[in-house]
Amino acid sequence: MAYSSLDAFIKAAEAVDEVQHVEGADLELDVGCLTELAAERNGPMLVFDKFAGYPDGFRVAANANRTIRRFALAMGLPLDLHPLELLRLWRDKRTSAVPLSATVVKDGPVLENMMQGNDVDIEKFPTPRWHTGDGGRYIGTQDMVIVRDPEQSWVNMGCYRGMIQGRDRVSFWINPQKHGRIIAQKYWRAGKAAPVAVVFGCEPVTWMTASMSPPFGISEYELAGAYRGAPVDVVELPLTGLPVPAEAELVIEGEIPPESEETAIEGPFGEWPGYYTHQGPEAVVRIKRIYYRDNPIIAGAPPLRPIGWSNFTNYVHLWEHLERSGITDVTGVWGFNNGLLTVVALRQRYAGHAKQALITAAGFRHGDMKTYYVTVDEDIDPTHLDEVLWAMCTRVDPATAVDVIRDAWTADLDPRVSPAKREAGDLTVGRMLINACRPFSWRDQFAKTNVFSAEERNKVQTKWRDLLEHLGKKN
Ligand SMILES: Cc1cc2nc3c(=O)[nH]c(=O)nc-3n(C[C@H](O)[C@H](O)[C@H](O)COP(=O)(O)O)c2cc1C
Repeated sequence: MAYSSLDAFIKAAEAVDEVQHVEGADLELDVGCLTELAAERNGPMLVFDKFAGYPDGFRVAANANRTIRRFALAMGLPLDLHPLELLRLWRDKRTSAVPLSATVVKDGPVLENMMQGNDVDIEKFPTPRWHTGDGGRYIGTQDMVIVRDPEQSWVNMGCYRGMIQGRDRVSFWINPQKHGRIIAQKYWRAGKAAPVAVVFGCEPVTWMTASMSPPFGISEYELAGAYRGAPVDVVELPLTGLPVPAEAELVIEGEIPPESEETAIEGPFGEWPGYYTHQGPEAVVRIKRIYYRDNPIIAGAPPLRPIGWSNFTNYVHLWEHLERSGITDVTGVWGFNNGLLTVVALRQRYAGHAKQALITAAGFRHGDMKTYYVTVDEDIDPTHLDEVLWAMCTRVDPATAVDVIRDAWTADLDPRVSPAKREAGDLTVGRMLINACRPFSWRDQFAKTNVFSAEERNKVQTKWRDLLEHLGKKN
């Protein structure tokens, strides 16, 4: 089922008890801290309203897609499946999805209100300080920066963090390899500013797709249409012609001047690994117009602890990469701390099979900052940290089953890179490969586990259902 708007998604989430409304929170501390406290509890999404100094109805929605359950809800997948089952369904959906171009419509709720000229004021919208040490208010944490490639004419969307720099300026931190920057640079090289639109709040699938990275030249709009099962309705903005979702909440339209002409100091910002690492001069959007629907909802997906991110796309990519590389019998791929620790479960077929999977996983393109790679046998649930730790603690002889690789690439968000290495542009750290599978050559003699079989567990669970419900849920 395709949601037309963020509000429609909130209503669907309410129906399955996944929303908590909060009134009267302050933007300086309450919103950010409550968002983190809710995430720690794997809690519902939070919809904040009634901020002092802002019109009632100007809302902030945080953690909309943070849990596996809400990911499933957004993607139209069954709720409450085992995470690996969901991963498999998501993988199938991605593989079979047929790209659908966006549909251009003449009008939409996003055009209900407009500011332009001297009236432009992005500070009129409630924007939290997500963490106390942040250098400013970040309106862009769950945004979509939209630019058109001047040579090939396709439209790219990416989620890049955006900090308010005044009434008519928002700065964005866009990494060098990101398509949004590559496209902006094409305009800058021609001495022009890049026309841009930025969406702060829309239905979840389009946003999640914007935060994925299809190959350069493929518009995220088409993939969003595929995953929604219906094209995204867009309006073309008057000044730039850029398409934005007709049901978007809040949109700025303007231009990104060449960085040689204007930048602003961006950051620090509490980043997804849980640290402050990056601050510096970054590109700005000069806002020419602001469009917003009545009672707009600004979407927020700030980095939080525990680091968790329920967009499984990277695990699917890694699984596909392993299979493309000839690694057979993979039974699951998962990650903890947003994949900083990656686990591959497999059925060992030959000597060296698990090591081959480890080497292949550690060399994967999406591996920046991802340091720990673990292989486990197929009897271990890779989505269950306790089971993974059990395998690590009982099947790994550290003297023989662990390898360390030096000088592998990482990101400048990595707090382990020393100031000297940073200065030298040497953004590298090691990788640890941990083979927590039973040693292949004597796996049949490895001590048997005392784990109950699935049949035994099912039998007892059925017989003792009432008692077990009384005892509560398994962690
Ligand atoms: C919540 C969230 C915040 C993100 N923040 C940034 C950011 O500040 N800068 C950046 O370069 N990428 C950021 N990313 C990653 C990009 O959105 C992602 O790599 C996306 O695929 C980029 O699109 P592109 O490949 O079209 O450039 C973020 C992703 C998410 C999910």
